[in-house]
Amino acid sequence: MRIAVVGSGYVGLVAGACFADLGHEVIVVDNDQNKLTALKEGRIPIHEKFLPELLDRHRGRLLQFSDDLGEAVRASSIIFVAVGTPPTDRGEADLSFVESVAREITGGINDYKVIVEKSTVPVYTSEWVRRIILRSGADPESFDVASNPEFLREGTAVTDFLYPDRIVIGCDNQRSANVLREVYEPLTSGRYYQRSEAIPQPDRASIPAPLIVTSTKSAELIKHASNAFLAMKISFINAVATICESVGADVKQVCHGVGTDSRIGPRFLNPGIGYGGSCFPKDVMAFRAVARESGYDFRLLDEVMRINEDQRERFLRKVRSALWTLRGKHLGVLGLAFKGGTDDIRESPALFLVQALLQEGCKITAYDPAAMERTQELMNSTVKFVNSSYEVARGADALLILTEWEEFANLDLDRLQRELKYPIVIDGRNLYHPETMAAHGLTYYSVGRAASHPEGVPAGVAKNATKKA
Ligand code: UDX
Ligand code: UDX
Repeated sequence: MRIAVVGSGYVGLVAGACFADLGHEVIVVDNDQNKLTALKEGRIPIHEKFLPELLDRHRGRLLQFSDDLGEAVRASSIIFVAVGTPPTDRGEADLSFVESVAREITGGINDYKVIVEKSTVPVYTSEWVRRIILRSGADPESFDVASNPEFLREGTAVTDFLYPDRIVIGCDNQRSANVLREVYEPLTSGRYYQRSEAIPQPDRASIPAPLIVTSTKSAELIKHASNAFLAMKISFINAVATICESVGADVKQVCHGVGTDSRIGPRFLNPGIGYGGSCFPKDVMAFRAVARESGYDFRLLDEVMRINEDQRERFLRKVRSALWTLRGKHLGVLGLAFKGGTDDIRESPALFLVQALLQEGCKITAYDPAAMERTQELMNSTVKFVNSSYEVARGADALLILTEWEEFANLDLDRLQRELKYPIVIDGRNLYHPETMAAHGLTYYSVGRAASHPEGVPAGVAKNATKKA
């Protein structure tokens, strides 16, 4: 099939590359010339596993890049809209990019087209998109508007796309549903998975991919409700972690016990420093606004947001209580991205904490495997950036782990202990066992678990504090 994808961000670029891997002819359209130039030259603007392989495989063949939306629409039978939907000051989704793209699409409608919202949008957006295209002069029979929400997690977006838990298509008639069915047929029939060059299967893959067909409004709601539920799950466990700390329980054990109930499930039950990223914070707020508009006061979501903010404050308090005063303290920071596996720093709780600690007068040395370039653009003069975890630890008063990168979970702990001025690790992502850290001479604070100290060292005093002070 011939497909246009509008927007080459984290969502559009992954979707475009994966559609090409399914065998479709894809034009990805963007109005950012720098991005397009980079993509045409084979440079990839984001860090995403398997994306380089897919772009190498299809760029210039099944996958083209263009700034000409009208031409892309004319050449395609289905157009996916994946432009940004940032929050407004009131917490609603700003749909101005979606609206302007809808207007522009109209000019390219030369025969029947299906226009699909892939961006996360509030319920009723598809109706508005339809209205805008009609007002712009399109024949009502010449197009349909559908919703096909994405559930991609950054860092694993390609495998999430190709091995989805489910594909949701929201359509209000059979004609548009059939077009969308055809797009995903290689996944829903299982044909894609038999190919030798298919992207490798992750754990827990549902094969063939289940397809759920709903009305457009239901599909729009499925996306918001899914993200709000996952954010709620994280806030819930963060609240439980706080209770664990107070009563001396271990949140990892609690999560295991709770998550083993198949009705609850173990995923998205990791406590930490609160959720971030371009979706959860914005989508919970937008869903709250959608509910308010529809006449329902969804106060549960206020609490989800409040717990999330509290979680960052609690972590700051933990740093203060581990180090007493902060002014002039030299802190090593591991992780800047909002989660592991990505270079994305949008709404990153790690950056929020770095900024707060800088304001308290700390000196920060930081390392992130993928997000340093983006962070440097924001705070080059205030943070020292280095190229390894051990350089971060060198001479630091404490080490903070703020992003759940796999490489941070596999550090040489003896070396870490030697590099630090005071062997204190404050882990916002629970990457280590407290006993293991203590056995390596490290005082270790994590989330929802008691602090651990090297043998013979009273709580609050680091083993080599006197040696190195
Ligand atoms: C975005 C939304 O934030 C998310 O809610 C939605 O689910 C999907 O789209 P993301 O891909 O991360 O997610 O956004 P971003 O990285 O900002 O990419 C959007 C792209 O659209 C940018 O490359 C931008 O240049 C492009 N764009 C934006 C257009 O081509 N035309 C426009 O009018 C506006
Ligand atoms: C999310 C949704 O998972 C995805 O379905 C949707 O399409 C886009 O938004 P993403 O934001 O890329 O994906 O990452 P996700 O893995 O969901 O993590 C979001 C935030 O929650 C991160 O800051 C992460 O560190 C945090 N998180 C996640 C936790 O604190 N605990 C968990 O158990 C899981």
